Amino acid sequence: MTTVFSNSVVDDNTRRELLYQGQVFVYSATPASALLAAFARELIAEAFGERDPETAQFDMPVEEFAELLAGLKPRFIHHPRCKELLPAVLKELGCDLDRTYFDVPRLRTSTSHDYLTSGISYAFHPHRDCWYSAPFNQLNWWIPVYEVVPENVMAFHPQYFGSPVRNGSARYDYAKWNRTSRVTAAQHVRGDTRDQPRPEEAVVLDPQVRVVPEPGGVMVFSGAQLHSTVPNTSGRTRFSIDFRTVHIDDVRTRRGARNVDAECTGTTLRDFVRSSDLDPMPEELALEYEAEALTRVG
Ligand SMILES: [Fe+2]
Repeated sequence: MTTVFSNSVVDDNTRRELLYQGQVFVYSATPASALLAAFARELIAEAFGERDPETAQFDMPVEEFAELLAGLKPRFIHHPRCKELLPAVLKELGCDLDRTYFDVPRLRTSTSHDYLTSGISYAFHPHRDCWYSAPFNQLNWWIPVYEVVPENVMAFHPQYFGSPVRNGSARYDYAKWNRTSRVTAAQHVRGDTRDQPRPEEAVVLDPQVRVVPEPGGVMVFSGAQLHSTVPNTSGRTRFSIDFRTVHIDDVRTRRGARNVDAECTGTTLRDFVRSSDLDPMPEELALEYEAEALTRVG
């Protein structure tokens, strides 16, 4: 059973326990998450100029659209304003900033009617972030920038939370991916040839859960959830912000979701910085996680 908690008042420790069991949390926009979404809209408007960003795809050659995103997305990701707003969001939602680490927020798009589904606007097939070297205590935070509808959000496939899916994660190593494939994202306009971990058996996509938060609303879920980008049939490009967190106590004690099927090596832990002062994740933890990942290669 998957439960979606709306504006729950449980503390962060209890919330993490429930998230590690596959539950989902959703919150109304907080002051800081509303500001974060507004800041994204500001950068998007700057990039799109006169055009309506949600429908610009219908008037632009796809190459030009991809190029625009290739400029816009890194501008958002690395903007110092995000590093102020993101910890503020976490604080307002009950996280201990001294123990919660985050990685950079991404700006994502999902275009309508398969206009651009590769490279810089990749439409994610069903996957767990844990197939991509994420730790099992990773939590994903997802915030729509504009109004969203069931036809342009993301979906969970909760029946797989505790059940394995045959997948290609054994061929994935995070360090190797960073060295080779990631930098080429913007070049993949007509198709994506990069070998990503994906299901290697038929996945039953229904029943599925789609959560539709308000703009600036915040959804939180475990990185071990099987989730995907829904085929966007809404007639509008969806813009959303997502980022990941880990709690250092859980990283140290290996508390998190159960690994049912990930066989990747490497770890994304080095991407996380402490919310209170942007200090990096202690290197010894990343080394321990890397060593442990090597033992799960099937
Ligand atoms: Fe994901």
